[in-house]
This record gives sequence, C-alpha cells and structure tokens, in this order.
Amino acid sequence: MDKLLLPVLLGTNRKNRNSVFPARWLIGEMEKRPEIQTRLFDAADFALPHDDYGQGLKDLFPEWRDTIIKADGLVVVAPEYNHGYPGVLKAVLDLLLKEYIHKAVAFVGVSAGPWGGTRVIEAMVPMVRELGLAVTFTDLHFPTVQKLFDSDGRILDQGFEKRAKEFLDELVWMSRVLKWGRENVPSKYHQAKVS
Ligand SMILES: Cc1cc2nc3c(=O)[nH]c(=O)nc-3n(C[C@H](O)[C@H](O)[C@H](O)COP(=O)(O)O)c2cc1C
Repeated sequence: MDKLLLPVLLGTNRKNRNSVFPARWLIGEMEKRPEIQTRLFDAADFALPHDDYGQGLKDLFPEWRDTIIKADGLVVVAPEYNHGYPGVLKAVLDLLLKEYIHKAVAFVGVSAGPWGGTRVIEAMVPMVRELGLAVTFTDLHFPTVQKLFDSDGRILDQGFEKRAKEFLDELVWMSRVLKWGRENVPSKYHQAKVS
C-alpha cells in the first residue's frame, strides 16, 4: 500500500515550550511505522507578518503549502492556553483552506494541568471543520507534561506507546479512507481518477 504523508504541526512559538517534547517523541513513533511518512512543522519557524493574515500569504510559505497539498492528513500538537489554542497555531492553519479539504486531522493535547489539553482540542474541533478537515476521535493527551519527559526528551511513562499506537491506527485508517474517497468519489473539491 502507498505510504501516507502525515505531517505534524507543533502549534506554539513560546520560548521554553514543553510541547516540543511530545511533538518530537510522536515523530519518533510515527517514523517506526512503514505506512507513514512524516515531518515536523514548527509554528516558531513561520515568519508571519504583523500586518497581514490568511490565504493571501500562502506563497510565502511554500514548504507548508506544498506539503499540505500532498498530505493525506495532519497531526496538530496543541498546547492549552487559557482553555484555547495559541494565536500562532490559528495563524499558521489559516494560511491554507482548500488544501485541507477531505483530509484527516488528529489532535495531541498538551497541558501543565491535569486535563491533557482536552479543552483546547474541544475548542479546535469546530474550527477545523470549517477548514474541511475530518477529525479523528482518538486524541492523545499529555497532562502535566512538565513531568512526562527527562531532560533528553525521553518519555518516562511507557504507557504512552500504546496510546500513541491507538491514536496513529485511527489516523491511518481515516487518512486511507479519505485518500480513497478523494481519488475515487467525484467531488467539486478534488479530481477523482478517471476509470
Ligand atoms: C498563556 C498561557 C495560558 C495557559 N493556560 C493553561 C490552561 O488553561 N490550562 C493548563 O492546563 N495549562 C495552561 N498553560 C500551561 C501550558 O499548558 C503549559 O505550558 C504546557 O507545557 C503547554 O504549553 P507550552 O508548550 O507552551 O509549554 C498556559 C500557558 C500559557 C503560556
């Protein structure tokens, strides 16, 4: 079967952010799976202008644009900021629109508190629906993230491997089904293969 392209977006540019640890660890788990091709996009690497916003800027970020055009799905690592998502995460997502349609998105919630980003994920679900993304139902949560990794980024609780497997199994299933749909079921949003 074809490999699925499933990039990971790290959704904060905050100095000393802890979300970088789950993001890097998850990339490692994804790279173990032969059916997945991935790469990390970091919100901190997007030189977003202070006086402009949205799709009109997409050509300033060709790697992001072209990767999402080719992608079959997306993982968003979302730190919880006052029960919501960082503005920079929204600004990066808002660079594109039609490029996301009928692709899967899976959420990784990260928080200092005990709820593992549950509330930021709930806040993101209605927003990504407007982008045409289809949300998986198997989120991955990193509560009290500051205690979950050692200083070299190694995870301290091996239980996360099983949780990541279930999270990725569902993302792979959704991404494969949607890929088949994009290629075989006519829609005004994409070109199905001519049989
Ligand atoms: C502006 C701001 C608001 C925050 N609000 C919450 C919150 O509502 N709930 C929570 O559990 N942690 C909250 N935190 C802590 C972050 O979840 C914590 O720093 C975690 O490590 C993820 O964010 P980080 O990647 O920026 O470190 C907040 C942090 C910031 C900077």
